[in-house]
Amino acid sequence: MEENQQSRAHFGSKFGVVMAAVGSAVGLGNIWRFPYELGMNGGFAFLLVYLLCVLALGIPVMLAELIIGRRSRSNVFSSFKVLSPKGKWHYLGIAYVVAAFVISSFYFVVAGWSLEYVYQAITDQFSSRSPLELSQAFTAFSTDAFRPIFWTIIFIFLTAIVILAGVQKGIENISKVLMPILFVIIIVLCVRSVTLPNASEGLSFLFYPDFSKINSSVVLSALGQAFFSLSIGMGCLITYGSYVKKDNNLLKTSVEVSVLDTLVSVLASVAIFPAVFSLGINPAKGPELVFITLPNVFMQIPGGYVWSILFFLLLALAALTSIISLLEVITAYVSEEFKVKRRTAVFVASLLLALSSSLCSLSLGEGSVLKLFGMPLFNFFDYISAKVLMPLGGLFIAIFLGWFCSKKMVFNELSNEGQLKTRVYELFYFLLRYFVPIAILMVFINELR
Ligand code: TRP
Repeated sequence: MEENQQSRAHFGSKFGVVMAAVGSAVGLGNIWRFPYELGMNGGFAFLLVYLLCVLALGIPVMLAELIIGRRSRSNVFSSFKVLSPKGKWHYLGIAYVVAAFVISSFYFVVAGWSLEYVYQAITDQFSSRSPLELSQAFTAFSTDAFRPIFWTIIFIFLTAIVILAGVQKGIENISKVLMPILFVIIIVLCVRSVTLPNASEGLSFLFYPDFSKINSSVVLSALGQAFFSLSIGMGCLITYGSYVKKDNNLLKTSVEVSVLDTLVSVLASVAIFPAVFSLGINPAKGPELVFITLPNVFMQIPGGYVWSILFFLLLALAALTSIISLLEVITAYVSEEFKVKRRTAVFVASLLLALSSSLCSLSLGEGSVLKLFGMPLFNFFDYISAKVLMPLGGLFIAIFLGWFCSKKMVFNELSNEGQLKTRVYELFYFLLRYFVPIAILMVFINELR
């Protein structure tokens, strides 16, 4: 393991680690998915359940992944082998690589949409359209056979370039630059939104508790959303954890990343809902919320041209730093397990992803025969990843580290071999062993009944 440690790539600084992990966490999940989940699941009630999920389930699982990664210094497949040489856990590692592939496939499509909308914003295409036309334009675009695929492939290309530049020079550096920019853009957008007339209605939708809206499906949605947004439950942070140095305080890193990620989701909602209410648009819109509703909003506020460019740029940048973490999972696995150069691994992965993303995109329009379990491939991949693969993936991570690894090892990793204080570690360990598995199973079974 010592040798391995010397030669293996690693992140340069603690700030870099947090930014790379926040880069992975903050993405379409925060800006595209969170607001519409919140809108469809009753506003503040959803937010509360979500916060609980992050605190009691998200942080422990994130920490568990970082521990597994840093201890094993390996990709998702080998990490289980290193920590449990006799077990069969590494097969689970393959499931995680597959999950990364499934998530990337639909994620690249939406990331491609964000590029199209940056283009449309810059070329001022929203202002000439009525609300109905905006909605029709989105449907026409997203179901088109060529255009979305064109942008998707450009996005895959951009992602591949970052991955090829390497862990420190590519992933870490781009996250250190883009994440602070993203924070500034989102705060500017929030200020714009809350200063619109009648913004208070949107704010009270966001912050007025209506507990009657909470039911088991809201809880599963919040759980899936928390895992999706924090990038946990499929080994992404095992891979990133393997690049983290030994002097990093993993607990502190997990808390910082979770807080920042949650903050961005809330800010994105504050940037969106007051504006939506201000114009009297229905907040319970699904996935099309940011692509149809928001252009409407932009066109009706002063300076909408600039705001729309800023917003879609934000969306595209956030998507980029997230999707590099997914491609890195696949790249690290392929290059280390099949002993090929990173370049070859990136090339093969990108090619396969271009194919499966194209199928996802086609499934929304011309290729409507591309269905699994009655859903278009795109919706199926979204559904299966957030509602099945990630909760189950998180469950297995908790069980693996909580029950199949030694407590001593876990505490050594948490305390950096005894150098840090260990007060909350017992709580973490308890959550990991009992609370996380039971809670995930209960939500899950309740939903499947
Ligand atoms: N967290 C990202 C988002 O919110 C998406 C993402 C990146 C992801 N890497 C992941 C989701 C790993 C699950 C697992 O958009």
